[in-house]
Amino acid sequence: MTDKYCVFGNPIGHSKSPVIHAAFARQTGEDIEYKAILASLEGFADAVDAFIAAGGRGANVTVPFKQEAFQLVTRLTARAELAGAANTLLFDGDEVIGDNTDGVGLIRDITVNLAQPITGKRVLLLGAGGAARGVIGPLLDERPSALVISNRTESKTHVLVDHFTHLGPVSGCDLPDLAGKTFDIVINATSASLHGTMPALPEGIFAPGSLAYKMMYGLGDTPYRIFAREQGAAVISEGLGMLLEQAAESFYVWRGVRPGIAPVMELLQKA
Ligand code: ATR
Repeated sequence: MTDKYCVFGNPIGHSKSPVIHAAFARQTGEDIEYKAILASLEGFADAVDAFIAAGGRGANVTVPFKQEAFQLVTRLTARAELAGAANTLLFDGDEVIGDNTDGVGLIRDITVNLAQPITGKRVLLLGAGGAARGVIGPLLDERPSALVISNRTESKTHVLVDHFTHLGPVSGCDLPDLAGKTFDIVINATSASLHGTMPALPEGIFAPGSLAYKMMYGLGDTPYRIFAREQGAAVISEGLGMLLEQAAESFYVWRGVRPGIAPVMELLQKA
């Protein structure tokens, strides 16, 4: 019987996950179907229950439900527990297991696919939502010289700094106070691009040779991409590699088979 998976989000029309997982299933011969489900902002838990009742085996969770997903599970993997956010759910009998594959996906894309070491680098992380939470522990594992978190709503920055401070050199900085500071890697983990905008960054934050990374994949000239290019970032990534890597890791969690991302990247780039 075909096993059912899905991604929950709001909005969800932008999601490439159904195309990616269909391609992974073809590549690995796994018999799965995967669809995108728009959950109402108050209706995430009900949507998960309905999907489980309909025979769902697992799910991805995207903006803005990753922290709510963390709350509703019955069990967490260590990496989801550290993150305080879940992007991958596994339904096993009465258990709802929460995992987080965002961090693995980001680190693999930056260090392997883009061949940019994080060790010893000054890293700026923009955003303090579920997506940001998922990557802070794995970023600190790479031993950057500094990890600065900056978010539109300042109080959320401080919550994250307090939560992760025991793991490495993490600090917070309000967006206007970034003026005069430079970074080797600037990771945009906000959902601003969904609204066609970007965090209000001061000029001059990209060090020579720096990497500008956007975690929420979207094609074309987004405001962040344009800003990073104008400000002299040497390498700019729209996050397609992370999207594919986190999806491959979720697929592995569900099916025990790890698909290769290269053919799917080619497929999406052509599309
Ligand atoms: P996700 O799971 O993708 O992280 P989220 O938990 O809703 O989604 O978090 C969205 C993040 O994007 C938040 O850090 C949010 O900032 P606030 O905490 O101030 O809300 C950030 N964000 C969204 N739109 C933004 C914008 N236009 N400018 C700057 N930051 C924005």
